[in-house]
Amino acid sequence: MKIQIEDLEFEKMIEQHAIETQIISIGAQINKEYEDRLPVVIGVLNGSFMFLADLVKHVTIPCQIAFIKLSSYHGAVNSSRKITEDLELKVDIKNRDVILIEDIVDTGNTLRYIVDKLKTMNPSSIMACSLLYKPQAMEHVIPELKHIGFEIENKFVVGYGLDYKELGRNLKDIYQLVN
Ligand code: IMP
Repeated sequence: MKIQIEDLEFEKMIEQHAIETQIISIGAQINKEYEDRLPVVIGVLNGSFMFLADLVKHVTIPCQIAFIKLSSYHGAVNSSRKITEDLELKVDIKNRDVILIEDIVDTGNTLRYIVDKLKTMNPSSIMACSLLYKPQAMEHVIPELKHIGFEIENKFVVGYGLDYKELGRNLKDIYQLVN
């Protein structure tokens, strides 16, 4: 099925049920890895809101939830490389286990920026989960990135939290740009 968002056409790439299956699996791994710990789950807004909300329903161990807000695309289909910090982290993560939740890792610039910033706050550990990962676009080695829902081609995608010009975040499935 194809959809139109503003000037661009997108086609369905990942169905909602496939996303859910991956989320259940990532949730189960977090439950095992963080048993007897109290992690702080930090969502990177805006894109991660839907992934985080669905993932934490499958996290059965106690956890805290917080958000930071960054932007780097600014309405285009290529990363602008300039990261803007719109909302600072409001919890103290000193000596805490942090689970960072990203919608997508593209060049990796944003994740690199966040991991470096969080490290200055002296957490016990940082582990990152991203629903999507574009290995061909990645420009960094980030060992903290442990859980990935789907590796995808280097194509622009929308839906399930991800936007084009702030549209499409509410779609249940993920769509890729038709060239
Ligand atoms: P990176 O810094 O290049 O890894 O990009 C990270 C951020 O850019 C993500 O958190 C998204 O907000 C945005 N982004 C990257 N790729 C896409 C895409 O295909 N669709 C929508 N947003 C994207």
